[in-house]
Amino acid sequence: MDLPTSSLDKLAAAIQVTPKYRHLTPDLIRRLGERELAVRGSFKEAVKATKNKLHQVAGAYQESKINYDRALAQLRKTVGDAAAFQHTCTQLLRLHTSTAERLPILDEFYRTTLADLPPIHKVLDLACGLNPLTLPWMPFSPEVEYVAYDVYTDMMAFLGEFMGLAGVRGRAEPRDLLTPPPNEPADLVLLLKTLPCLEQTDKHAAATILDALQAPYLLISFPAHSLGGRDKGMATHYTDQFIPLIQQRGWQITPFTFATEIAFLVKKV
Ligand SMILES: C[S@@+](CC[C@H](N)C(=O)[O-])C[C@H]1O[C@@H](n2cnc3c(N)ncnc32)[C@H](O)[C@@H]1O
Repeated sequence: MDLPTSSLDKLAAAIQVTPKYRHLTPDLIRRLGERELAVRGSFKEAVKATKNKLHQVAGAYQESKINYDRALAQLRKTVGDAAAFQHTCTQLLRLHTSTAERLPILDEFYRTTLADLPPIHKVLDLACGLNPLTLPWMPFSPEVEYVAYDVYTDMMAFLGEFMGLAGVRGRAEPRDLLTPPPNEPADLVLLLKTLPCLEQTDKHAAATILDALQAPYLLISFPAHSLGGRDKGMATHYTDQFIPLIQQRGWQITPFTFATEIAFLVKKV
């Protein structure tokens, strides 16, 4: 017997047929769609509002469709030559707006923020975008385990292949960070330029994620300006909200200011 299709199923199906959102994890579409269906006047408006939100939190960072087959072919050509492989990573990092912005500071970013950490065996890179391609810049031992999550299934499949080519032990999986927040143990969590995105879909997201994470060290960052570079007061706005969340929990915090990003190394004590 066929069960009746709910409005949420219909909304998710209507969004997943569009090429732009075909590879998005259904968990994110459904979480946002459920809320829009509750507050919008019609199904059509709810679909439109869900698409707008998906664009704001994810789609906007990919200005054009990434050709992952071509990216893998480029990486395969340079495997075995560390400098050439790193150069290919640099080219590919330009394809996601967020990692493109990190390129000018990449040489100093991890060297500075992670300088005083004890040996790191497991890293979680949450809402990673293409950031795992910066692994060649990270100061970890070759045995480190690296786990990456973002909402795109095609991007995660690509990053899984990338880790194989880079000789990195780990996995990349599609995941909406709020259904439910990750709580697997790790030594270090990277939450780079992500809390503002999550808070656009849930105003308690930062506190929820911070309380779920099971890691002694968190590297958390915020963009120094908005996408497109207009709003320069944004960094102050984010950090004014973020720092009290850490202080309330009694954790230690070390700030770092870079040209394109404000970072905080948090030590849970
Ligand atoms: C500003 S980018 C940051 C990417 C990466 N962390 C970096 O610093 O380059 C925000 C990322 O969050 C991802 N994202 C948005 N909402 C998410 C969610 N609910 N769960 C997981 N990832 C999410 C987007 O796809 C995008 O890659």
